[in-house]
Amino acid sequence: MEPSPDTGSADPAGYYRPDPRYRQEAWLKDYSAAYESFLADREAFWEGVAGELDWYARWDAVCKWDYPNARWFVGAKANITVNCLDRHLAGGRADKTALLWRGEGGEERRFTYRELATAVNRFANGLKSLGVQKGDRICIYMPLVPEQIVAMLACARIGAVHSVVFGGFGSAALGTRIRDADATLVITADIGLRRGKVIPLKEIVDEALQSAPGVERTIVLRRADPPMSLSPREVDFGSLMEAGGADCPPEVMDAEDPLFILYTSGTTGAPKGIVHTCGGYMVGTYYTAKTVFDIKDRDLLWCTADPGWITGHSYVVYGPLAAGASVLITETTPDYPDPGAWWKIVQDCGVTIFYTAPTAIRMFMRFGEKWPEQYDLGSLRILGSVGEPLNPEAFEWYYHVIGGGCCPIVDTWWQTETGMIMITTMIGEPMRPGYAGRPIPGVEAAVVDREGRPVPPGKSGFLVITGPWPAMLRTVYRNDERYREYWHTIPDCYTTGDLAVQEEDGYIMVLGRGDDLIIVSGHNIGTAEVESALVAHEAVAEAAAIGKPDPIRGNTVKAFVILIEGQTPDERLTRDLQALVRRMVSPVAVPSEIEYVDALPKTRSGKIVRRVLKARELGIDPGDISTLEV
Ligand code: WTA
Repeated sequence: MEPSPDTGSADPAGYYRPDPRYRQEAWLKDYSAAYESFLADREAFWEGVAGELDWYARWDAVCKWDYPNARWFVGAKANITVNCLDRHLAGGRADKTALLWRGEGGEERRFTYRELATAVNRFANGLKSLGVQKGDRICIYMPLVPEQIVAMLACARIGAVHSVVFGGFGSAALGTRIRDADATLVITADIGLRRGKVIPLKEIVDEALQSAPGVERTIVLRRADPPMSLSPREVDFGSLMEAGGADCPPEVMDAEDPLFILYTSGTTGAPKGIVHTCGGYMVGTYYTAKTVFDIKDRDLLWCTADPGWITGHSYVVYGPLAAGASVLITETTPDYPDPGAWWKIVQDCGVTIFYTAPTAIRMFMRFGEKWPEQYDLGSLRILGSVGEPLNPEAFEWYYHVIGGGCCPIVDTWWQTETGMIMITTMIGEPMRPGYAGRPIPGVEAAVVDREGRPVPPGKSGFLVITGPWPAMLRTVYRNDERYREYWHTIPDCYTTGDLAVQEEDGYIMVLGRGDDLIIVSGHNIGTAEVESALVAHEAVAEAAAIGKPDPIRGNTVKAFVILIEGQTPDERLTRDLQALVRRMVSPVAVPSEIEYVDALPKTRSGKIVRRVLKARELGIDPGDISTLEV
C-alpha cells in the first residue's frame, strides 16, 4: 500500500488516523457496529466466529457460565490441528508457505501447509508409537526451530497436553514445571543457538530430570555434528518422525478438553500452570489473529515471540495457522550479528505484519535510526506491540521509523490467562499513542475500584474483564483455588492485576501491574507513568521506577535509568529528568533519586522486574528470580 500523505502525523486531538484503505479492506470494518452486535447477542456473536471453523459435532450451547467457571461450545467436538492444517489442504493452501524459518546465518527452511501437515502427522504417529495417549502431559523444551511447532501440533493432534517451557529457562525452572505438570515425556534438542553461542539444552534437561523422576523418555532433536549419542531411554526426533506414517487421524476432542498448560509467574513466585482448552482457545485465537492482524492470504506474519510464551502459542502457532497465514520464525536475536539483523529479515523475507515487544522497540531506539535506515521496510503493512505499555515515544518511533508513517500499530493488551488479545485498536480505527485502545468486539473490560464500581473517565483503577470469553483460562493446573482468586478478588470480575485509565472515548491506557503501584503521600503512582515520562527525554533509552519507604511520605520514587549510547549522566540531566516527570506526571511522582545503570533486571520475556531492583535497594532477598535475564 502506498503511504498517503495525511497519515504521518497526529490530528489536533492527538489521534493518528490510518489510511482509509485499511478500513475498507479490513475483515472487521466497523468497530462500533461489531461491538454493538456483540452486545446485542453475545452468544450469536461467538457462534458466528465458531461457524467459520471445522467441527466434528456442533455445540449444544455456546457458553454455560456458572460463575466463576465457564464452558464454551458445550458438547462440541473438534481438533485444532484440523483447522490449522487439514482445512487448508482442502481449501487450496496446500502449497502455500505455512512456516518460514531463518537461522542466525541467514539460512532458511520453508514448510508448505502440506509439508507441515505431513511432518505433524508423522511425529504424532511417532508419539503414539511411544505409547503417548490423550491427556498425557508432554513437556516441550526446544529452541525456536520448526520442530518445536511440529511437536506442539503433534501433541494437539493426538490429544496430548503440551507444556512448552521457554528454551532460555534454567534447569531448576524447567524441573519445577515438569514436576508440576506430571509430564511423562520431554521433547528437546541437543543444542540451541544464541548470538553465535551454543546453549546445551539437553544437558539442562538431564539436570532437570534428576529432580523429575516421573519422566520416562526424552525425545532429542539432534542438530550438532557429529550427533550426540543417546541413552536407551532417549529417542531420536528424526528417526521417530521417519518411522511414523504420514497419516495420523486426529483425536476427536471435546471442546472443553485441555489443549495445553503454560506456566506463568505468579506474584508469589511459584509458577502457575494456566490451563487452556481445545474449543474456546481455537475460536478466540483464530478470531483475533484474523481480525486484529487483519491476516490476508498474501501476508507474511512475523511475531518475534518464542512459542515458549503465550504470545508464541497464540500468534506464532495456533491463531495464524488457523487463519491460514504464512508465518516467519527465527532463532535470531535482534542485535546479532548487528542491530540491523531483524530489519534485514523484514527486507529479505518481505514481512508484512510485524509483532514485537516495547522492550525490543526501545532497544532499537537506543541503537538509532541508522540501522533500520539501511533496509527497505516497504513490505510492512501492520505493526504490533505486546507485553508492556507502549509509551508514546516508542509508539512514535515505531510508527515513523519502522512503519514509514503509514502502518497502523496494534498495541495489544492481553495475558497468558486470557489466551487471546483482549484490548487493542482495531485496524482502521484512530490510534492514540500511549493507549492500547478499546476492548475488542467479544470482550467486555472496565476500570473499577476495589469493590468493582467503575471509576470515572481519566481516573486510574483496576483493569477487569466483566464477562467470560472463549479463550479464557479454565483453571490453574492442580490449583483451582488460584483460579478462583482471579474472579473473587473483585466481585463478579476477572481481575487482571493491571492498573489502567479509561478515557471518555473508551480508550484504555494500561499503567502497569497493580503490584508496581507506588503510593507517595497517598497518591497512587503507576511505575509505568514515571518511566514513560523519563524515556520521553532524548537522552534516555530505558527506565524503571520503584517505591522506597519513606517515614513521611510513605514512599518516595527512585528511578533507574539507562542512557542512549554516547550520553553521559550529570547533575543537570538529573534535574532535567526530574522536571520532566514533574511536568508530565505530577510533582508527587518526581523521583527523589535517579541512578544511572547499564542494565535492568528483566524476565526473559522482557518485562522489567522492579521487585528485584527494590530488593537490591533495600538489601533484602528478591525471592524467586530463576526466570530473570540478568
Ligand atoms: C502486560 C503477554 C500494557 C500486562 C501477552 C499484562 C501489557 C501482562 C500489554 C501479561 C500491553 C501485556 N500494554 N501492558 N499492550 N500486553 N501487558 O502473561 O501487565 O506474559 O498483565 O502475557 O503483560 O503478561 P503475559
